[in-house]
Amino acid sequence: MTKLVKKAIFPVAGQGTRFLPATKAMPKEMLPVVDIPLIQYAVEEARDAGIEEFIFVTGRAKSAIEDHFDYSYELEHLLQEQGKTEILSTVRKVIPEAGRVSYTRQQKPLGLGHAVWCARYHIKNEPFAVLLADDLILAKPGCLKQMMATYDKVGGNLVAVEDVAKEHTDRYGILDVETDDGIIAKARGLVEKPKPADAPSTLSIIGRYILQPEIISYLDRQEKGAGGEIQLTDAIAHSIGRTPLHGQHFDGTRYDCGNQLGFLDANIAFSLERENMRDGVKEILKKYS
Ligand code: G1P
Repeated sequence: MTKLVKKAIFPVAGQGTRFLPATKAMPKEMLPVVDIPLIQYAVEEARDAGIEEFIFVTGRAKSAIEDHFDYSYELEHLLQEQGKTEILSTVRKVIPEAGRVSYTRQQKPLGLGHAVWCARYHIKNEPFAVLLADDLILAKPGCLKQMMATYDKVGGNLVAVEDVAKEHTDRYGILDVETDDGIIAKARGLVEKPKPADAPSTLSIIGRYILQPEIISYLDRQEKGAGGEIQLTDAIAHSIGRTPLHGQHFDGTRYDCGNQLGFLDANIAFSLERENMRDGVKEILKKYS
């Protein structure tokens, strides 16, 4: 039987240079899609999937994330006085239970693998999830919850996957596929950001992972990979053979909120999901069609 996944790592130390100047004094993970910051979507997705411990790997100038997941007595008092009880409960329900949230710092930007490694003492010897808030996924049930159901059957390491255009393989971790039934793919290898000509497939990793703690021992080696960074992809690739790797074709739509167009697309899609906004958004879109 597979061990339950109760911990999730949120790597949030990245600089967000693509969103400057907006991200000069604000973490990119706090950019809102409609009125919810990207990081909150990721935390809620994790919570809905049964995650109980939330581990943030932060960096300098990221304290707004810590404040977001904490009480704000002044604000709450004000909302209470104004009788705005609905928004008050919305603001409160974001906050994890005391002691279930922890923060560690990635002191140097050495890559995603390094960020996960920085959380090693919080992981101890348990399987864990990793969620990249830039990859916003519109799905019911949430992507990680779908993965938990698959993980229950296949165990090992599991990543969310999606087919990408051949010319974009150099933006993603790409699976070398052994079998694929269109729902679950079994991988015999994994490469970080291969050139289209070298890519073993077009099946790319989207920022959701369920990983076994052994991954950490590979990360201990601090080996640099693509882009001179310590890559999570390489650690997962190393463990294939001992730990099977599967890719899950999730049911839902992923928005790459790491770039302006993807972020705009997400804002439109998520606002269309809101009943009280839908008609207004359609009206606006008509103006531009
Ligand atoms: C990271 C991973 C990559 C994965 C991608 C998903 O890359 O290294 O394997 O496909 O996230 O968004 P990054 O986007 O941080 O360069």
